[in-house]
Amino acid sequence: MGVDYRLLTRQLDAITKDVSVSVSNYANAAALLFHALSGVSWAGFYFLKDSFLYLGPFQGKPACTRIGLGAGVCGTAALQKEALIVEDVRLFPGHIACDPASKSELVIPLIWEERVLGVLDLDAPVVSRFSAEDRDGLLPFCDLLVRRAHFIMP
Ligand code: SME
Repeated sequence: MGVDYRLLTRQLDAITKDVSVSVSNYANAAALLFHALSGVSWAGFYFLKDSFLYLGPFQGKPACTRIGLGAGVCGTAALQKEALIVEDVRLFPGHIACDPASKSELVIPLIWEERVLGVLDLDAPVVSRFSAEDRDGLLPFCDLLVRRAHFIMP
């Protein structure tokens, strides 16, 4: 939807480069994405620990706190170590409806040294909100983010 992902990644670079506290960087990344992407109802992170994804910094309505690895879109993307674009969540078996208004999603695993740290989760209240262009634009954003912030779960 016409987002300048290079610019967004440069903005992430600028706001994270002098910050050594991971949670601060994830919080700012969620805010950056939520305000830069139109038609997005939720933007945030889940972090993996002991086969569960736990809610991290986000923008949007309160969400599920814990998601099993392999469950829903987030758990599936984390398990498969693969970004998932879901055009219509009603057609995704096991979709977790934290917000019944959510209609489409993009989930990108956060990978550091071949280990899944968690996921970026974006939700939209319309079907087919996310494209391969969004996914491809956000992969370098996520790569930079995990380089800046990979100490998360205790
Ligand atoms: N819908 C997600 C759960 C997280 S919320 O959307 C914030 C899923 O199925 O993984």
